[in-house]
Amino acid sequence: MASFQAIYGTAPAVSATAPGRVNLLGEHTDYNQGYVLPTAIPQRTRVELARSPDGRFAYYSANLDARIDHVDGRALPVDFARYLHGCVEVLREDGHAVPPLRVRVESDVPIGAGLSSSAALEVATLRAIRELLSLPVDDVQLALLAQRAEVKYAGVRCGVLDQMASSLCDREHMLFLDTLTLERRVLPLPRDAELIVLDSGMPRDLADSAYNTRRAECEAAAQHLGVPSLRHVADPARTRDLPRPLDRRARHVVTENNRVLEAVTADAARFGQLMNDSHASLRDDYEVSVPALDALVGALQAQPGVLGARLTGAGFGGACVALARRGTADAARPAALAIYARGGWSGRVLV
Ligand code: GLA
Repeated sequence: MASFQAIYGTAPAVSATAPGRVNLLGEHTDYNQGYVLPTAIPQRTRVELARSPDGRFAYYSANLDARIDHVDGRALPVDFARYLHGCVEVLREDGHAVPPLRVRVESDVPIGAGLSSSAALEVATLRAIRELLSLPVDDVQLALLAQRAEVKYAGVRCGVLDQMASSLCDREHMLFLDTLTLERRVLPLPRDAELIVLDSGMPRDLADSAYNTRRAECEAAAQHLGVPSLRHVADPARTRDLPRPLDRRARHVVTENNRVLEAVTADAARFGQLMNDSHASLRDDYEVSVPALDALVGALQAQPGVLGARLTGAGFGGACVALARRGTADAARPAALAIYARGGWSGRVLV
């Protein structure tokens, strides 16, 4: 991995980092204006940058050992540079004069595991530019800029969960966020418990198309119910008369929002139960699980000390998260992976 100095011949002017995230509860709720409950993972993305002396943008990925150059007025850069240059463009749209930059990025946030590697990239980039130019942008505004970069320049119709989590979360707390009002509370993680995150090793091939279908189904359900979004429905019984499959899609969103609200004050045992319920709802009502994720979640749930487990992220592959009694996670991780391996799959420990 070449250093900034080795690639560009000078030291970087600034550097910044941002973490990946794992969502503990509140899946597929953010684009329904609902509630989410993420925390940061230890893996982070680091961005170093400096003003460019030659009028060209240069983006270097240490992970890919690839460099993409760009000149204003030409076609926008592709691949990993879309996320980086998207951050420049959204700042410019908001009236900030961003000069050409030389950028180096390096990350240990796993890509494609549902842990928001792209949000970590955007948030770290925006933090570094904010520092270089002393921009008056707070952490919430920064997350919203990052989300806009993802939607507009990376072409992913995501909600605001990932970028808010990367911008506002640390590892000692969970973030309760109301995605409608952006009201938020930083809360301690459940007491006497620890987190496990395992990668299922399954690529999220179907995730994009299914994600957009689910979004459309939720919008249709809200329209049937005469509400601006499913966030405005609290009683799951109201979803019963919707046409299929909108009834089950809406029931997931409504019950998931209720689970987040309950989890805020729940003890670790109840929190774990809510995670188990969330997985069942994502599997049966929302239909975004796959056999490998069900197997990995089942293997986790079977471990002594594990209080609850679920798929995390958009689904169709990626990671699972579990809550375990303090002191039991070290034994639970390899034991769950061994059971999972008997199904012919190969997972790995992420947290
Ligand atoms: C992806 C999206 C988020 C959120 C989750 C599902 O991670 O980027 O905005 O919708 O899926 O909860």
